[in-house]
Amino acid sequence: MALRSVIAGCGGYLPAQIVTNDALAARFGLDTTDAWIRERSGITQRHLAGDGETCASMGVAAARGALEAAGASVEEVDAIIVATATPDHAFPATAVRIQALLGMTRGFGFDVSAACTGFVYALSIADAMIRAGQARSILVIGSEIYSRILDWTDRSSCVLFGDGAGAVLLRAQEGESGVLSTHLHADGRHGDILLVEGTTGPLRMAGREVFKHAVNKLSSVVDEALAANNLAREDVQWLVPHQANIRIIEAMGKKLGLPRERVVVTVDRHANTSAASVPLALAEAVNDGRIRRGDLVLLEAIGGGLTWGAALVRF
Ligand SMILES: CC(C)(COP(=O)(O)OP(=O)(O)OC[C@H]1O[C@@H](n2cnc3c(N)ncnc32)[C@H](O)[C@@H]1OP(=O)(O)O)[C@@H](O)C(=O)NCCC(=O)NCCS
Repeated sequence: MALRSVIAGCGGYLPAQIVTNDALAARFGLDTTDAWIRERSGITQRHLAGDGETCASMGVAAARGALEAAGASVEEVDAIIVATATPDHAFPATAVRIQALLGMTRGFGFDVSAACTGFVYALSIADAMIRAGQARSILVIGSEIYSRILDWTDRSSCVLFGDGAGAVLLRAQEGESGVLSTHLHADGRHGDILLVEGTTGPLRMAGREVFKHAVNKLSSVVDEALAANNLAREDVQWLVPHQANIRIIEAMGKKLGLPRERVVVTVDRHANTSAASVPLALAEAVNDGRIRRGDLVLLEAIGGGLTWGAALVRF
């Protein structure tokens, strides 16, 4: 039997501060409306980190949730991989900060930078390490504080993002369940259409161009993931997409022929939390009982780089 990486538990963390579209416009004096933001993106509100919160503090909260859901103790964890574009420091890596916060004194950890595709990249790396026998149990975390790299005078980008963290505990297990395959891509020629200036920002985005790439590239990576596993779109029970825009999410759901209730949507309440968006959405749908053991789940994401990717997971 094949050795696979099973998602043993999922956790999520959202800062307490909820800011509606109207409140955001009022706070930053933006020339925008709740109706425009809802119609173009599906977003109604976002969570924003408080002063005392860090990428590591949010990540560790999500990680604790994943450990608890898996019934695992910290002693079991061999490694921590954090996907983030907004680390607290250039180094130490956020993963190592989280290791210390969890009270771990062994194992290893590092961060992955692939913007909104970061979690899919990190999952792919963790899965490969588990199958290669380098670790048996890995915390894969996405944690982001985009509120600290946004230009709050740029209405075309600042209304689209939020803060949060999501995590999964991946565990080595023999059998048919687990990560079936991951598919990663990058094309640096399009690096300038979505970037963070320098290391501290602000973020700049050519929204319309990113939108076009998103629909085309996600569509082809979904086909690639299905073909690699000899599966048809009818076999997929759940789509857990990157949460950037409801129109992109709906296009992917339609492509897979999935009814609306089989597409996990959080963008309305979380906005785009970049590398945290997929694990946050996954945590919501797994922990409220929608996604069950045995279900075939497709994860996909696209982000700055451009980077994009997908993962097929049997729960
Ligand atoms: C950003 C996005 C919502 C904009 O929607 P759109 O339908 O493409 O809108 P456009 O960019 O064409 O802008 C339309 C108009 O709205 C204006 N506008 C932009 N932001 C606005 C806002 N917050 N409120 C009101 N008007 C706004 C623009 O200035 C433009 O005005 P103009 O026609 O007079 O020039 C959409 O392009 C998108 O979601 N792109 C993908 C972004 C994404 O996914 N990024 C993350 C990837 S990881």
